[in-house]
Amino acid sequence: MTLLVVGASGYLGAEVCRQAVAAGERVVGTYHANPVELAGVEARRVDVTDRAAVRALVAAVRPAAVVSTPYRYDDWTVTADGAAHVAYAAAEAGARLVHLSSDALHAGRPEPYADDEVPTPVFPYGAAKAAAETAVRVIDPGAALVRTSLIVGDERSKQIRLCLDALAGRAILFTDEARCPVDVADLAAAVLELVAGDHAGPLNVAGPEAVSRAELGLLVARRFGIDPAGLKTATSAASGLLRPIEVRLDSSRAAGLLRTRLRGVTELLAS
Ligand SMILES: NC(=O)c1ccc[n+]([C@@H]2O[C@H](COP(=O)([O-])OP(=O)(O)OC[C@H]3O[C@@H](n4cnc5c(N)ncnc54)[C@H](OP(=O)(O)O)[C@@H]3O)[C@@H](O)[C@H]2O)c1
Repeated sequence: MTLLVVGASGYLGAEVCRQAVAAGERVVGTYHANPVELAGVEARRVDVTDRAAVRALVAAVRPAAVVSTPYRYDDWTVTADGAAHVAYAAAEAGARLVHLSSDALHAGRPEPYADDEVPTPVFPYGAAKAAAETAVRVIDPGAALVRTSLIVGDERSKQIRLCLDALAGRAILFTDEARCPVDVADLAAAVLELVAGDHAGPLNVAGPEAVSRAELGLLVARRFGIDPAGLKTATSAASGLLRPIEVRLDSSRAAGLLRTRLRGVTELLAS
């Protein structure tokens, strides 16, 4: 099978590529600003904001499946329009699509969110991810939409780097912002299971354990043998920033559907 990973230069995209190559697939991986150098991956440059270029790439590669990961936190055209362009091109080629979505499309509340809850975004990034989902669902109702949370792993994870920066006093972690971190390898394995399956629509794929960003910082301190005394914290509520505060994804449906075990963050960062 030929798998096209759009955003292979990203943290999750690269791990999806590695696992797919290891499973014996032909893997074509795209990049935009940061060239891909992954063993066994055919690299192609594409800008997802360029609809014609995305269509031409997909038509040339003729993938059986497409994994769509690109986003930029502050760029609607990449996050929303780009996702639509990838979905359109995948549908045109008759390829199975797995689109990466986010817990950021929820407003935040104490109760966990179920898989198919309607987005309630409160900030521009969340709105762009919600718009991306709407476009993908309209273009390809059979696509799987993977709603995930903080992607953790090694120092290449931007969430881990944020924690390391906060432990060094260069950033702040909120004590009231709850999330369900997921390991990059677990998430990539789950994505590849969904590529091979026929799940359609949103599916929460996150860790089973909710922690605050500050608690994540303490787990990272223990994992990296860093004295947590320097950890800088604050509350999201007092920061004045418009952000979802408590977002817990209930991933029990994914846990039942998938063979991949989605590990909790305490277990992940234990040693
Ligand atoms: N990271 C998290 O904690 C988190 C949490 C929830 C949901 N998610 C979702 O999970 C997905 C993957 O996240 P990640 O952290 O692995 O992302 P990442 O490491 O930041 O990678 C983003 C990818 O998007 C590509 N990209 C950016 N602009 C592009 C453009 N104009 N055209 C084509 N490609 C472009 C980048 O390519 P270049 O680097 O080559 O420019 C890169 O491959 C995203 O959809 C994100 O919304 C992530």
